[in-house]
Amino acid sequence: MHQTRDENDLEKISKEESSKTRESEVNEVISETSVALTVSELDFYYGKTKALNGINMLIPENKVTAFIGPSGCGKSTLLRIFNRMNDLIENTRVEGSVRLKGQEIFSPEINVSDLRQRVGMVFQKPNPFPKSIYENVAYGLRIQGINNKSTLNVTIEEALRGAALWDEVKDRLHENALSLSGGQQQRVAIARAIAGNRPVLLADEPTGNLDIASGKEVMKLFKELCHDEKNPISILMVTHDPDLASTADRMLLLNDGKTEASDIRSAWGLDDEGEEE
Ligand SMILES: Nc1ncnc2c1ncn2[C@@H]1O[C@H](COP(=O)(O)OP(=O)(O)O)[C@@H](O)[C@H]1O
Ligand SMILES: [Mg+2]
Repeated sequence: MHQTRDENDLEKISKEESSKTRESEVNEVISETSVALTVSELDFYYGKTKALNGINMLIPENKVTAFIGPSGCGKSTLLRIFNRMNDLIENTRVEGSVRLKGQEIFSPEINVSDLRQRVGMVFQKPNPFPKSIYENVAYGLRIQGINNKSTLNVTIEEALRGAALWDEVKDRLHENALSLSGGQQQRVAIARAIAGNRPVLLADEPTGNLDIASGKEVMKLFKELCHDEKNPISILMVTHDPDLASTADRMLLLNDGKTEASDIRSAWGLDDEGEEE
């Protein structure tokens, strides 16, 4: 009888120990890798239809995080949460909390246009304006009231360099952006979305309209932007291509409005790899 209790106790202690180890491992990871976005108990409704269901996750800073999952599972809805683009869709409702570097994005004090200036977005179709390459990138900066020519020149060059397009277009900045190839147009969209040091970039199927080679280029570029020594950013992308997603820093599976790999370890890829690289 006694023996059994001791064994039980031992088992209990060993369980406690192992959960402690797990906790300290996780804490170590958090202190090493900071968090860009913290999502807690997030629900989202289109009318009465629940599209996101109790999502909890941490998005690591300065990494490419790829959301993957079947069509209609809520990937685009989730991405649009982070710069409050869903606000523009009528009859929708959000519950729960999303913090960007600790700041609640649904708080009444948040200025939504400031938020969108910090969190840029690119889509499947780049849809450049029928204007020059220069003006396409200048667009977001002009909205922010930046009109000084030399500031614009410097910032646009920086953004085009960041988007790995500068060398290809530096002598034709005033040509129509529609004259560029699909892959180049997508890089113009990326340059516009990162111009002016935005800390977060959202990308919804950014490679969906590109051939495989250009798609890989975009992923390589995303990783360079996140791992840049001087001015790294955090990228959240949606893709339905598992091969591409597997080359991201982190992959999160979404199914039926829920993240399947939603705990901290999975968010940092610890489940698969056993440890942080
Ligand atoms: N504007 C909308 N109005 C109503 N329902 C929508 C709207 N956009 C998406 N949905 C629904 O929400 C669910 C998730 O859609 P979405 O986020 O677009 O999925 P995914 O990007 O993974 O394909 C789907 O059932 C879709 O029909
Ligand atoms: Mg989608």
